Amino acid sequence: MDFEIKINDKLSVKLRNADDAKAFFDLVVKNREELRKWLPWVDATISPKDTEEFILRCGEDFKNKKSADFGVWYEDKWVGSMGYHQIDYANKKASIGYWLDKDHQGKGIITESVKAIIRYGFDELNLNRIEIECASTNLKSRAVAERLGFVFEGTLRENHIVNGIFYDGLLFSILRREWSE
Ligand SMILES: CC(C)(COP(=O)(O)OP(=O)(O)OC[C@H]1O[C@@H](n2cnc3c(N)ncnc32)[C@H](O)[C@@H]1OP(=O)(O)O)[C@@H](O)C(=O)NCCC(=O)NCCS
Repeated sequence: MDFEIKINDKLSVKLRNADDAKAFFDLVVKNREELRKWLPWVDATISPKDTEEFILRCGEDFKNKKSADFGVWYEDKWVGSMGYHQIDYANKKASIGYWLDKDHQGKGIITESVKAIIRYGFDELNLNRIEIECASTNLKSRAVAERLGFVFEGTLRENHIVNGIFYDGLLFSILRREWSE
């Protein structure tokens, strides 16, 4: 199954397939030290097979409308990952996650990709509320939510453990009626 949201001539978010597993595994390996500070699945990603299983699950879940998890495609290569991990249709809400290759940070790639997926969430998935949650010390992730006008709702105390350390989560959201580009 193919799916792509084209953002501009250089940038798209696209559904991955099994052939992309090696490229994504290599991207995780390259960025492992930074990613493992924030993302709990990184240490369990030890071979391209793990990445392939994840990508195949994303494809199935997208087909079944359970999630919308995409790769970030920039200048003809994969540079990151982002999307809705789980979609709660009963409450018309979903949460966005993202990560980006270190050599492609600082250009607005994730901000633009998140904008595109917010539009998709409100227009195509009929969401009413979109959340971003990040660790209180993750200033770059927090900046993405703030740059896009998400409203800070509060601190979820010791909400996640990453590498044995509890992190407070900062919860941000945007509602359909608040969103304008
Ligand atoms: C979180 C993460 C994706 C943010 O990456 P990023 O490159 O800072 O985010 P963006 O792609 O939106 O780029 C924003 C930066 O580009 C700059 N920028 C340049 N052109 C821009 C544009 N057109 N639009 C927006 N920002 C632009 C911004 O000023 C900002 O730079 P700054 O950090 O120096 O202020 C990245 O740090 C990462 O992958 N971290 C590890 C994983 C992680 O923490 N994931 C989130 C878990 S909650």
